[in-house]
Amino acid sequence: MSATARTAAPMPDDIRGMKGDVPIVSLTAYTTPMARMMDEHCDFVLVGDSVGMVLHGLPSTLGVTLDMMVMHGQAVARGLTKAMLVIDMPFGSYEEGPAQAFANAAKIMGQTGAAAIKLEGGAYMAETIAFLVQRGIPVMAHIGLTPQSINTLGGYKVQGRADQAEVLANDAQAVADAGAFAVVLEKIPANLADRITAQIAIPTIGIGASSRCDGQILVVDDMLGLFTAFKPKFVKRYAALAQTGEAAIAAYAAEVRARAFPAAEHMFSDAVPSGHAEQSTLK
Ligand code: KIV
Repeated sequence: MSATARTAAPMPDDIRGMKGDVPIVSLTAYTTPMARMMDEHCDFVLVGDSVGMVLHGLPSTLGVTLDMMVMHGQAVARGLTKAMLVIDMPFGSYEEGPAQAFANAAKIMGQTGAAAIKLEGGAYMAETIAFLVQRGIPVMAHIGLTPQSINTLGGYKVQGRADQAEVLANDAQAVADAGAFAVVLEKIPANLADRITAQIAIPTIGIGASSRCDGQILVVDDMLGLFTAFKPKFVKRYAALAQTGEAAIAAYAAEVRARAFPAAEHMFSDAVPSGHAEQSTLK
């Protein structure tokens, strides 16, 4: 399936079917305008819990709540017609066990219209993944660097080097066998990502993994150069919107202080327009 051929949003099974086909394109989004910008171009859009760091200024994803995910999920849903919507389960909303995960995943899907949820974790999450999938909740898994576990992983390090490679390969197999329709591979060596991509029957979505993964994802604020607190090595900046935006704000501030803005064309006269009255406060 290519982005130009899409007329309606794919379903999780369609994404699964793209394994080994044209690369799957995805980005994160948190707002309606961003979702609209990427709808034509992405196969799926993820409301990532990265929202906590890039939009809310939190130090990690650990403080993100279910209500935040629902609110941003609803906003993104309003901007999508062609890309599939996936929403992250936030920290603490699924790890207790299958029943807790089902209740919260059902809330996210029911209140946003998302087609699937994503959760972090490998073999130890397999039981929960199977439970959700059997009850109608498509699951995207996420292994490798799992940011919700930074306190036990010891930071945002590359995962799966040396003897950990085997563990991650087993994790990938376990989530695939449990019924996940795709798996995000974050910050792992390229040759391990290639091995996993060849080994499992579901698409791998790389972020800091390998160009040979079945698809790629980036945090949109990273690739647009909007989030500049730090830049992981795996991020390519396709724009520098923070710089452009700050320059625009500085120009506005200077014009306001110089009384150059608003100019005549931005103000209203007291003459009643002939023909029709002014229609809207937006005009
Ligand atoms: O939260 C997020 O944005 C993610 C992606 C980086 C995969 O999980």
